[in-house]
Order: sequence, then structure tokens, then C-alpha cells
Amino acid sequence: MPCRRGAILGFFLLFFCAPLNAQTPPANAIASAHPLATQAGMEILAAGGNAFDAAIAVTAALAVVEPTGSGLGGGGFWLLHRSKDKRDIMIDGRERAPLAATRDMYLDGHGEVVPRLSVDGPLAAGIPGTAAALEHLARAYGRLPLATSLAPAIHLAKAGFPADERYIRMARFRLEALRRSPAAAAIFLQNGNAPQPGHVIRQPGLARTLEAIAERGAAGFYQGPVAKQLVKGVREAGGIWTLEDLAQYRVVERAPVTGRYHGMKIISAAPPSSGGIALVTMLNILANYDLDAMTSVTRKHVIVEAMRRAYRDRAEYLGDPDFVDIPIDRLIHPYYGAGLSQSIRLDRATPSGSLPGFVLQEAGSDTTHFSILDREGNRVAATLSINFPFGAAFVPPGTGVLLNDEMDDFSVKPGTPNVYGLVGAVSNAIAPGKRPLSSMSPTFVEIPGRGVAILGTPGGSRIITMVLLGILDLAAGHGPQSWVTKGRYHHQYLPDIITYEPGALEPDEITALKTLGHDLKARKRPYGNMQAIFWDLKLNHVSAASDPRGTGQATVSP
Ligand code: GLY
Repeated sequence: MPCRRGAILGFFLLFFCAPLNAQTPPANAIASAHPLATQAGMEILAAGGNAFDAAIAVTAALAVVEPTGSGLGGGGFWLLHRSKDKRDIMIDGRERAPLAATRDMYLDGHGEVVPRLSVDGPLAAGIPGTAAALEHLARAYGRLPLATSLAPAIHLAKAGFPADERYIRMARFRLEALRRSPAAAAIFLQNGNAPQPGHVIRQPGLARTLEAIAERGAAGFYQGPVAKQLVKGVREAGGIWTLEDLAQYRVVERAPVTGRYHGMKIISAAPPSSGGIALVTMLNILANYDLDAMTSVTRKHVIVEAMRRAYRDRAEYLGDPDFVDIPIDRLIHPYYGAGLSQSIRLDRATPSGSLPGFVLQEAGSDTTHFSILDREGNRVAATLSINFPFGAAFVPPGTGVLLNDEMDDFSVKPGTPNVYGLVGAVSNAIAPGKRPLSSMSPTFVEIPGRGVAILGTPGGSRIITMVLLGILDLAAGHGPQSWVTKGRYHHQYLPDIITYEPGALEPDEITALKTLGHDLKARKRPYGNMQAIFWDLKLNHVSAASDPRGTGQATVSP
């Protein structure tokens, strides 16, 4: 009899469970911030590459056609899911502080922050991680040679791309800094000014650097002629990079941060990103409420209070895990979230001043994100950055590489109270070789029996709350077009204010939130550029969406 029961169970597992486990997506999908980058990724999938090869193509293409957001001079986090062994991995290609960096390098003799020093020019640049991540992706996870996956980007760098309205706006915003770097001005401006619409940006220097990586892997960037040109250019303009900085750079594979919310599994960025921890903390707080049963005002009030608490912890605890002990297990524990929820009053906002005070380090607002799903079920969510638009606005001559200003993501004045009596967090202080704290939050959400989501966005410190609102929208049953479109609001503990996109809150909601004690301010412009994919397991259908605020492209292709 047991034998017969075993056979029946085996039959059941084979015909009902095995097909589900073995289920693969019916289509490939890519959503990125630029149509040419999405096309580059699709080209590589069509050539027999997997999602990881496509991620190389999209990363490199974005470095060419969206130089405002990411590039070889920057870094990022590539969150991977490999279907064959169901493994989730985060490739940490975040920039590192140069070995000659010091804690107070952006302060003057009186201990005051020197304006713009951590933002413009080569002293603002960390040691880039993107080239090392490209090689690591190809070697450890890809199927095609690196040179094949880089070919579309090399072509784009030679052929050029037309400046669009967003590029021109960003070039105007960074005009003075770009003009100070002759090599950057020659590439990214037109006769020293923001280009005219349609002006073609050609990057032969960047094409040569990409070719060096195609030929020699990461060594083509971190050693040899390119490395020498990078260091020479940086040092001649007042920077502190050395050849040893470049030779020492390594990506790190880290276990993503995971959590659960209403039966969904959240898989997101680990430190040195604050994204995964803050997301899981917020969701653990919100799990203590029946959001669906609340009025829209109470719901938003509770979500804002969750944001406030998670961002305070971010400021206090988080930094590079290779340098600081982060109480991750505690911060992402459901009991901790439950405890934080006890301090939330439904009838009144909690003034941030009543919570222990830490200065929030503002993150640059540019950056980029792309999401990929291939037909084998491999996934990539990658958020990449050079920090501010056009990064440090500095190109070492001959390299075509626009450097990041990610050093500004460190706490530049740690341990010292500012005029408000708030203390800059020591956990994110500058140290040689350390990675600055980030908000980048590439994320997967798995809902057993229902679907798999891949999402993320640029947007500085607002990245994490955008991803939170996307996940809550998914939990409410909506698809990617809704996640990327829905109006956004944000609270980050300090300043103690809810900021929101024009139209994201109704006038009566604004009035009611003010009555609860919140301060609110509408932002002038919409923000974020979310790129998202959903694989619906029930319908076995893949959908993808690119944020209407940007000019990206989401493509689903059988
Ligand atoms: N530079 C933006 C971030 O890392 O959050």
C-alpha cells in the first residue's frame, strides 16, 4: 500500500509539480532607459546569448548612449538569478575610494565642506567598477565571448547617437563643469555649448577603450595604456588616482538581501547599497497593517511613517560591509519591523526630530536601471551610476571615459554635528578602498504560483521609495505598466517633509495629511525612470514597461 501511495504521489509530482518547476518564460524581455540599449541587448539574445550576455551589451550600450547616467567611468549593482541552479547573486561593481583618500579630504582648514569638491572634477571620482563587472559577467555567467557582447556598444560609440531633449537639458545643467574638462567638452558639447537637438555624439575614444576591454577583458581598462591615460589625466587635473588603485579593483559577489511581504519573496541589493535593507524594513513595518482596508490618506500616512523610520536607520547603520559591521539580521527581521510599527500613530505624524538624529547623505539623482528576462528564466536587474548627471563631468584625455562623482555618496563630514545638531554617520565615512553607501535597489519579487517581477529605477535617495511603491502596486495586483506610471511620493526622514510628484496626491489627501501633521511639498518635475518586467506564471505571459517619464524602451520578443 505505501508503495502504491508513493506511486500516486510520484505521478502527482511529475504531472503537476514538475512542469511548474520546469516552467520557462515564453519570451525574452528587456526594459532599459534607451531604445538603442534595449536593441543592443536583444541583438545579443538573438545571437544566442543569455540574459547575462545581454546585460553586458545593455550596460556597455548605456555607457555610450546615456552618458548622463552610467558608464565605464562608474559602477553599479547587477542582481542576477541563474535559472539552472536557482541562485541569486549580486555583483557589486561599486566604485572604491582611491587608496590616497582621507576622511576629511573635502573639508577646508576650518572643517567646513568645500563646495563642489566632491561633485565636479577628478577628485570627486571613485575607482570605477563597470569594466570589471563586464568581464566577470562574461566569464562567470555568460555564454558568448565578451568581444561579441560588446560589439553593439562599440558600433554605437563609433556611429554616434543623436542628442535628445533630456540629454540637452542635462548638458545645460552641467555646462560649466563640462566646459572645465576640454576632453569632456569636445565629446559631450557642441562648440562649447549644450548641443542642438539631433546633434550626433560620436565617441571614438570610448570605442577604443571598449575595444581594449573586448580584447583583454578587465585588464584592458585597469592595466596597460588605458590605465596609464586614466591616471595621468586624473592626476594632471588635481586627482589622486594611482595605477595601483586600478590594478587592485575587484568586483565582489554578495548574497542579496531577502525578505517576505504577504507571501511574496523580495530579493534586493545588499550593502554597500542601502536599498535591500531599507526596502525590507519598510515592508516588515507595513506587514503589520491591512493597507487595503485603510482610507487612501491613512494608507499613505502609514507608508510615509515606514519610509521615515527605514531612512533614519539607513543614516545610522549602513556603509560598506567590508569596513563596518551592519546589524543586517536585526534590521530585516520581521520582529524589528513590528517593533517600529508600534511607534507609529495613525492619528499623527511622528516628527523626525523626535527620533535620534543623523544627517542623511544625499545621493546623486541620475543613474540608470535595466531589467532582463531570458527564455531560460535567467534574470538581471541592474542599477548603474556615475552619480550626478554626467558624473564628475571630467574625461581623462584620450580615454573617452567620463568619470563618476560617487565620492559624494560618502558622508563627507562624519561625526560632526551640523547646524541642526545632526551627526553625519561614521559608518559611511571616507576610507581608502571603501565603497560609498548607495541607494541603488535592483530588485526581484517572486510570488509563488503567480509570477516573477524584475524592477528598479534611478533617482538618488528616492530610488528605494519608488521601488517600494512599485512592490505595493504589484501586491495590489497591478502589472508593470502601472508600477512605472503611478504617481510617486517620498519621505526620507530628513528633511522632515513629504515630497510628491505633481498630481501624485489629490488635493483632499494633501489637506488630510497636513492635518495629521505632515509637511508636504510638490516637486517641480516628475522623477524616476523605472524599467520593469513581469512574468505571469498563471498565464505564462511576459510583459514589460518603461517609465513614461523617460525615453526608454521595453521589448518583449518570443
Ligand atoms: N549614486 C547614486 C546611488 O548610488 O545611490
